Amino acid sequence: MKVGVIGSGTVGQSLAKAFVSEGHDVTLGTRNPEKEDILALKNENPSLTIDTPTQAAASGELIVLAVPGLAALESIKQAGVSNFEGKILIDVTNPIAGEAPVNGVPKLFTTADESLLESIQKLLPSTKVVKALNSVGAFLMYKPALQGGKGTIFIAGNDEDAKATVTEILESFGWDAENVGKAEAARAIEPLGQLYVARGMLNNDWAVALKLVRL
Ligand SMILES: NC(=O)c1ccc[n+]([C@@H]2O[C@H](COP(=O)([O-])OP(=O)(O)OC[C@H]3O[C@@H](n4cnc5c(N)ncnc54)[C@H](OP(=O)(O)O)[C@@H]3O)[C@@H](O)[C@H]2O)c1
Repeated sequence: MKVGVIGSGTVGQSLAKAFVSEGHDVTLGTRNPEKEDILALKNENPSLTIDTPTQAAASGELIVLAVPGLAALESIKQAGVSNFEGKILIDVTNPIAGEAPVNGVPKLFTTADESLLESIQKLLPSTKVVKALNSVGAFLMYKPALQGGKGTIFIAGNDEDAKATVTEILESFGWDAENVGKAEAARAIEPLGQLYVARGMLNNDWAVALKLVRL
């Protein structure tokens, strides 16, 4: 599948590599193609295409949004809203506010009754937006060797077929996916990113993942 990744931070790079490893045709969209770590990434992954965010969105049949939550809507507009029409968008962002964390707990700019995913979905009405992977460290996103078996990635979005596709992708990345509902369910998933950060900062330990355990 043709995959466009927008944002070349730790998450964008980790997911670009993951999709390349699974044999997808990946374009990493960056505003800074000459950055040293991007040149090194390209060197290690010759089949990876480095281009602009606009080109990554245009070329991707599936797009991954891996930018700071505060920049999410603006970076979509910069990449061209029409480039997202009818496509699956995996939204990895967390709505972390631009203020200091309080006792290690990051502040969110969303409310309990409106998630960032819903704002993205409003901006992109024909795009199949799926929240995923927002509550696990970038270094764990692809085939982590977790004790006790696979971890759980909670997903939400309005389109059932898109969630089925994202579930297949997550399984190929070594995770179980748990669908928790439509776009509104992202209100419950986004704070899991906050939980991951609060726990990580308290313990200085990020090598953990959530797991849904059944009776
Ligand atoms: N870090 C993690 O382990 C982790 C885990 C789960 C979820 N998340 C979420 O995933 C998203 C990406 O995380 P990250 O750690 O990769 O973030 P990051 O290191 O801050 O990188 C985000 C990238 O977004 C791009 N970008 C576009 N517009 C931007 C703007 N206005 N300001 C700054 N960067 C902008 C930049 O790439 P270019 O310069 O190449 O355009 C930047 O490298 C965030 O929403 C984060 O909360 C992070």
